[in-house]
Amino acid sequence: MTKTALITGASTGIGLDLAVLAARDGFDCILVSRNEPRLHELKKVLEKRYRVSVHVFALDLSEHQAVKRLTSAIADAGLTVDFLINNAGFGTAGEFIELDAETEAEEVRLNVNALTELTKAYLPGMVERNHGYVLNVASVAAFQPGPYMAVYYATKAYVLSLTEALHAEVKGTGVHVSVLCPGPTDTGFFNRAGSEMMVSKMPSHLVAFFGYKGVMTNKRVIVPGVSNQLLVAAAKLMPRAVSLEILRRFQKPSDAGSEDVSTI
Ligand SMILES: NC(=O)c1ccc[n+]([C@@H]2O[C@H](COP(=O)([O-])OP(=O)(O)OC[C@H]3O[C@@H](n4cnc5c(N)ncnc54)[C@H](OP(=O)(O)O)[C@@H]3O)[C@@H](O)[C@H]2O)c1
Repeated sequence: MTKTALITGASTGIGLDLAVLAARDGFDCILVSRNEPRLHELKKVLEKRYRVSVHVFALDLSEHQAVKRLTSAIADAGLTVDFLINNAGFGTAGEFIELDAETEAEEVRLNVNALTELTKAYLPGMVERNHGYVLNVASVAAFQPGPYMAVYYATKAYVLSLTEALHAEVKGTGVHVSVLCPGPTDTGFFNRAGSEMMVSKMPSHLVAFFGYKGVMTNKRVIVPGVSNQLLVAAAKLMPRAVSLEILRRFQKPSDAGSEDVSTI
């Protein structure tokens, strides 16, 4: 029997690599993002290479009613979602008081609302069928607050918290719910966030590989790479005031006012 994976943010980066892994594993795919031509290019490649059926739905998930339109279109096409990959997301970097209010509202609607609504739409059916997978993409940013990327870090903390709770709720049903928490990854993410981080970045195909393997084995929280795992362990152990100060200094934009170096 064919199984279908729905991947949000499948046009580039981690989402594209997750779509490749799902198709390689024999899942038919539903690809979602705003960039229709790119999704159609990927559809052609996946169908040819892996002999699966691929459906494209191009829409902006941060728009009002977007998830409703998507789930209706999927139902109208007679498709069932067995594997939900909530990957689409973006970040904003800078001073909270300076950043554009509408862009940050859009960020919350995409990273939080759309992810929650899609999980609400498809998790009940999976539980009823005693089979299915949900992989939500958070970040190492989920483990502590992040000055100068305050909204982004907060959205990812929500994704981590929600997913861990759902992992516990569906225990024993046969459904796997996992959260992928990548560290810096080599994608278009930093470009869109407007902050180029001078740190080494993991290739996105490797991040996707760990995420895919993690959800298949029902791992609750997946942190790819030893250095990211150390970062997360440090964030858990460190007093909040210290991690806040480190991130405040590390992420402070050069034009964000004078630095007080008297205390840490
Ligand atoms: N890169 C990193 O360092 C990093 C680290 C930790 C976590 N993450 C998380 O990983 C996930 C994937 O990001 P990425 O690094 O692969 O970045 P990316 O290359 O910028 O990919 C983001 C994807 O989301 C889609 N998307 C963005 N806005 C959308 C919208 N309004 N509606 C529908 N789709 C939308 C984009 O497609 P279109 O532009 O075609 O819409 C694209 O496919 C995100 O949730 C991000 O927060 C990334």
